[in-house]
Amino acid sequence: MKRRPLLAGNWKMHTTVAEAHALAVEIGKCSEGLDDRDVILAPPFTSIHEVASVLKDSCVEVVAQNVCWEEQGAFTGEISPLMLKEAGVTSVIIGHSERRQIFSEDHELINKRMLGALKYDLKPIFCIGETLAEREGSKTFTVLEEQLKGGLAGLSLRDMQKTVIAYEPVWAIGTGKTATKEQAQEAHAFIRKLLSEMYEKDIADTIRILYGGSVKPDNVDELMAQSDIDGALVGGAALDAESFCRIINFI
Ligand code: 13P
Repeated sequence: MKRRPLLAGNWKMHTTVAEAHALAVEIGKCSEGLDDRDVILAPPFTSIHEVASVLKDSCVEVVAQNVCWEEQGAFTGEISPLMLKEAGVTSVIIGHSERRQIFSEDHELINKRMLGALKYDLKPIFCIGETLAEREGSKTFTVLEEQLKGGLAGLSLRDMQKTVIAYEPVWAIGTGKTATKEQAQEAHAFIRKLLSEMYEKDIADTIRILYGGSVKPDNVDELMAQSDIDGALVGGAALDAESFCRIINFI
């Protein structure tokens, strides 16, 4: 089944407003005419407004890197789904391994963010992935299943239609060590099969599963050629206009 490719740049905690502006201008230019794929950017909160305004007439959408489940209140350091929507955000990354590992976000908290985003009509990009120790201990599939079941608890079929999954093996993030196309395809096929058991085959067939972890201009084409890889979630290479432009123009 052919799914519309989705190429996402996660800028993490990088870019001043001026740098974000310059990068957005370049990405806006090289995304012109790309009407057979979706391109999205996740700048830091402080640059969302600027990037959204630079890209308002382009096909590139602006997304957020995190979201709270409440619309307002005493949640110091968090960001409300309504605030994000007001800034022009349509989707949000949830459950990134950096949130899980550095900020100790567990299944329950991630699930709250998922349900909160959906309640306010923000589309989640839900990240999962195993560590090196888990892969070496043959626990990859068990971990992916736990993360999927934990994070997606309580999501309806309708919610799933709005959700994108990102498989990001932790050992491949920022390390220059990409999963081989076979390793990535195997994990994606496993995730899709599990989704068809948890929901239904139609949902599993239409949901987009992105690969993330050292995606670069020189490996994007072979990754995107895999039958269950529908896109890429790019960190480091998304901060370089030339590299990201090559990635979104994958062949
Ligand atoms: P890198 O592309 O830098 O490995 O980062 C991947 C990632 O974490 C995207 O969310």
